[in-house]
Amino acid sequence: MNYTLTRPRPDTPARSSLISEDTEAELSALLERRRKGYSLEGPFYTDPEIFKADMEGIFARYWIFACSIAEIPEPGDYVTFDFGPYALIVLRDDDGGVNVLHNICRHRGARVLTAESGSTGNLVCGYHSWTYAPDGTLVHASTAPGEKLDTSCFGLKKAHSRVVAGLVFVNISAEPPADFDDVIPLIEPYLEPHDISKTKVAYQQTIVEEGNWKLVMENNRECYHCDGHPELACSLFPTWGLQEGMIPPHLEEVWERNVEAKLALEARCDRYGLHHEVLEELDTRIAGFRISRESLDGAGESFSATGRRLSKKLLGSLRDFRLGRCSLHLQPNSWFHFLSDHIVTFTVFPIDVGHTIVRTTWLVADDAVEGVDYDVDELTHVWKQTNLQDKAFVELCQKGAASPFYEQGPYMDSEYQVEAFINWYTQRMREHLA
Ligand code: FES
Repeated sequence: MNYTLTRPRPDTPARSSLISEDTEAELSALLERRRKGYSLEGPFYTDPEIFKADMEGIFARYWIFACSIAEIPEPGDYVTFDFGPYALIVLRDDDGGVNVLHNICRHRGARVLTAESGSTGNLVCGYHSWTYAPDGTLVHASTAPGEKLDTSCFGLKKAHSRVVAGLVFVNISAEPPADFDDVIPLIEPYLEPHDISKTKVAYQQTIVEEGNWKLVMENNRECYHCDGHPELACSLFPTWGLQEGMIPPHLEEVWERNVEAKLALEARCDRYGLHHEVLEELDTRIAGFRISRESLDGAGESFSATGRRLSKKLLGSLRDFRLGRCSLHLQPNSWFHFLSDHIVTFTVFPIDVGHTIVRTTWLVADDAVEGVDYDVDELTHVWKQTNLQDKAFVELCQKGAASPFYEQGPYMDSEYQVEAFINWYTQRMREHLA
């Protein structure tokens, strides 16, 4: 037999929609009556059909953070990850570029690569050994005598990628929104001095939170709960998100320390030519983002109990350890802290309506020696503890959202970035349904 395929676009899904008309109607009504300044109604966090709509309307349309190039430093290195019904491979090619491929065999759909990360030449499906080149081209499939297969029709489907100062973003839509390319030149100057290309992975943690992905993101966008992070609050000022005139009495002393540290940091950044201004367009553009360089408490160097450095090696072209944290938030699934001695990346991959992966990766200078220049337990302590505490907060909220007695509650002033995230989400979903 001869096997050919005539569908012209190898990067499009075979089915146009995951959600039913009933779900569309219900979701439209929920979005229409969304109360500004309040949390979402329960079904947004608990309804499996709305989860499908989220995957289609958000994760299948917008740029999401996948990994950094430090995780795939050599040709053939790859990482895999799933989000909702989607599964991708991010693979470093021979030219140092990045290929993004759907991890779905074009024979009968098996996962091609099953490890979370590794290194490979060709990609061989474990089921019937169809073999793909690193760019996804099908290069071998066993055939019987006389049987013909047009291999050019059955390459792995491809997705889009952008590498931004060493951070790999992917997009699985046929036509990615263009304004991400406008954001790249705004954020790269903040990140490039830390030079991810000269870092290595010191540690990676993948945890599953029993909560909807939006609760995970909401929790990250405010520090109103930072009393629940005693380890983090040693270095990250818990007044984050507050403005002059909003400071509660118990944080006044911390606020004054923060103001002093901020002025000193800005002077230092100006001396070294480092960007520190806040750029914030969380819900006013499609590629919503916030970037800033902010002071840390104590020694002002890193996420430790004293604020002192956690790795002895400075990153990239930096010349001073006292540079606080350059923090980047991006809609819909990531946040980052770039410090002088290490970088922490966070990426969120939804599993289903009530489960979400949070992957945290700590990067240090590639010439830093474990046990000499840094200790992994010390390096990771603050954010490991903080992640566990955040997981517990998210899981408490997920339980509440499932109750018939759950009702939308008001976001406080210091939670304005949560409101911005929800605004961004509801705008995108309205556009999707329209
Ligand atoms: Fe991959 Fe058959 S499903 S080779």
